[in-house]
Amino acid sequence: MEPIIHHDSATKHVTGESVYINDMLANDQLLLGKVVFSKQAHANIKKLNIAKALKVKGVHAVLIAKDIPGENQMGPVIHDEKCLAEKEVVCIGQAIALIAAENEDALHEAEKKILIEYESLDVILDIETAIEKDNLLAPPRKIERGNVEEALGKSPHIIKGELKTNGQEHWYLETQTALAVPCEGKEMMIYASTQNPTETQAIVAEVMGISKNEVEVEVKRMGGGFGGKETQGNHVAAWAALLARATKRPVKIHLFRDDDQIMTGKRHRYLSKYEIGFDEQGKILAYKVELNADAGHATDLSMAILERATLHADNAYFLPDVQIIGKAWRTNLPSNTAYRGFGGPQGIAVIEMAIDRIARFLKKDAAEIRLLNFYKHDNNCHTPYGQKVEHNRLYTMYDKIIASSAYFNRKKEIEKFNCENEFVKRGIALTPVKFGISFTTSFLNQAGALINIYTDGTVLVNHGGTEMGQGLNTKILQIAMAELGLSPDKIKVNATNTSKVPNTSPTAASTGSDINGMAVKNAIDTIKSRLADVVIAEFEKTFSGVKTQNENIIYNNNFISDKLNPERKIEFIKIVQQAYLKQVSLSSTGFYKTPGIYFDREKGQGKPFYYFAYGMSVSEVEIDTLTGMYSLLRSDIIHDVGDSINEGIDIGQIEGGFVQGQGWVTTEELKWDKKGNLITHSPDTYKIPTVNDIPKDFRVELLKDVPNEGTILKSKAVGEPPFMLAFSVWLAIKDAVSAVGNHCEEPEFSLPATYEVILLSSEKLRAKQAVSSISKNSVY
Ligand code: MTE
Ligand code: MOS
Repeated sequence: MEPIIHHDSATKHVTGESVYINDMLANDQLLLGKVVFSKQAHANIKKLNIAKALKVKGVHAVLIAKDIPGENQMGPVIHDEKCLAEKEVVCIGQAIALIAAENEDALHEAEKKILIEYESLDVILDIETAIEKDNLLAPPRKIERGNVEEALGKSPHIIKGELKTNGQEHWYLETQTALAVPCEGKEMMIYASTQNPTETQAIVAEVMGISKNEVEVEVKRMGGGFGGKETQGNHVAAWAALLARATKRPVKIHLFRDDDQIMTGKRHRYLSKYEIGFDEQGKILAYKVELNADAGHATDLSMAILERATLHADNAYFLPDVQIIGKAWRTNLPSNTAYRGFGGPQGIAVIEMAIDRIARFLKKDAAEIRLLNFYKHDNNCHTPYGQKVEHNRLYTMYDKIIASSAYFNRKKEIEKFNCENEFVKRGIALTPVKFGISFTTSFLNQAGALINIYTDGTVLVNHGGTEMGQGLNTKILQIAMAELGLSPDKIKVNATNTSKVPNTSPTAASTGSDINGMAVKNAIDTIKSRLADVVIAEFEKTFSGVKTQNENIIYNNNFISDKLNPERKIEFIKIVQQAYLKQVSLSSTGFYKTPGIYFDREKGQGKPFYYFAYGMSVSEVEIDTLTGMYSLLRSDIIHDVGDSINEGIDIGQIEGGFVQGQGWVTTEELKWDKKGNLITHSPDTYKIPTVNDIPKDFRVELLKDVPNEGTILKSKAVGEPPFMLAFSVWLAIKDAVSAVGNHCEEPEFSLPATYEVILLSSEKLRAKQAVSSISKNSVY
């Protein structure tokens, strides 16, 4: 039996042994940094005076834009984001000045003494206004097949609608943090909480006006990233570096929670418009959708996120004639950014809503309408962008989850319950997810590794991925164990460091273990091929008989042996020591690039994904129509992770992703006032799910016997796909609300379905019911 390997930090987190940046004491020279940010959403800076702040006791530096030695920018893809505002501010939360001081009191004192005078300008604070003012961020994206207008024209039924999906705050437990340590000359060492050490290195180098080989970035772990540290971890690192250089002392910036919520970008809000044509059975004939994203004030990753939204507008369904348009709009809010699912959730929400409406219109079961429209195996199996849906697990999963959740029985019970209860209603929904795995920017699908074997037989694994709680380092450890046949005590996975593995991609798009795992395997294969001669020679010296063949050498249980002659075995450490004496290199880099993927953005065609991950979920909720409160009675999930590398971690990712999605679709609500101030900027006003909100009965199952050929240990990515299973909660709530009106009327609904939405929607239905003589057609 293989030993069960727990998450790297299972004990270290709970005992407090895990080291975060805040636990690192640079030395007694350490200064604290603070960011002074704009209090206006759009304004000219008329006056900026820091003289008084500089005089505060304990303050060592106050920096503004003119103090930046390099380029004043930190946009990751497009250089449209200032490191520090110059003449104009474009959102509340935009950095204007930086302070370094010996303690927090001095920081606050100095901040108060910085004089900023603004001249207010017009603001754009929502997508509607941005559209009205034609404030488009970049040319729209389009994916198209067939003739959607013609197909809509021929459809027996058409439903039109608009769906707003709100943003989402990342709420990583560790807010944005970085520690910059100035070294010799211009050299800078950065301890960062970033998903993208290579880009942090690049941005720091650009802002400082130095070269990349003078900047070293190290990431031990993050206290959560969830996409929020894919680009925006760069910012604090650049600010800390500027202060460190100015003071010649180590400087740490650790954002206060409320500041983090105000300053950083979030999941993009979307305003989507759709038209869906279908027949009597509920088969989709045409789908036309326009996805409008609120990008915030700068580009950041908005276009890549929009691209993934358009590539997931189909979710699991074959859409014969289809047109998908994506537009990103510039507003005066912090630049929105990656968040688990990377636009996928925004695209999928619309089609799931549309299908739910089809079912209600036809008075059919929504799960059956979904089944009817799933991608098929042999024909009707190409996505709107032309990729074939291979290894389709949707049907297997559907059969399994319908049975294991007793979907149809429970549906009947719910009907009965709803007849007997006037104010408490229940609802149920099944939703699938099909999620494409790979960066859609194809060249990013590359990874590197560096393996060192030391002469005591221990191994140090360096790779380009970062650990943010998702268990990547544990999976990498297991991959190295499997490839070298070693026990876990012989292997250490190092902190990620730009000087060990260069030019890496962010740990994102759920590809962490896929690509870094393969790079690690590649490095180990190189070393093994070098060791082969040593092994064969040692076997020949030690054992009699025919020579061992290269392909029969196996690594297992800390030994190296001959598959055909198992009695021939020598300890791993012995071979390593022999190799050293024979002057064989025991260190190797590794590299991997995902094969066969490409995407033509102009045409909206290609094979952007190496494979798809599948999942399905059934949720049942209960709502109190007098208060709007809901509770999640039960959720069943079945998910496809290929051959799981670590079941504990995979189930943890599924549960965590689902619950994070549950927060997005229910209680997490971002609200801004008329001036662009985020009103929900702390945990008392922004409600993330807690242990009280998770399903009362939570059943997560991994789909068995589904090896994913062509990936590391035949596994599948798991980080993001389960997030989107939370649509079952959202639509179960809609089902319960709909029961208020006896399922005669389409309820008003949006995302998130907060208590307020549930209450108001229920009340409207009840009022309509009272009037009762309502024209059904007017709703659609
Ligand atoms: N799980 C934890 N605990 N913390 C995180 O920050 N980020 C998610 C997901 N799961 C995250 C997480 C996101 S957005 C992604 S893209 C993946 O993990 C990244 O890691 P992977 O590629 O190794 O799955
Ligand atoms: Mo994840 S949103 O791709 O960092």
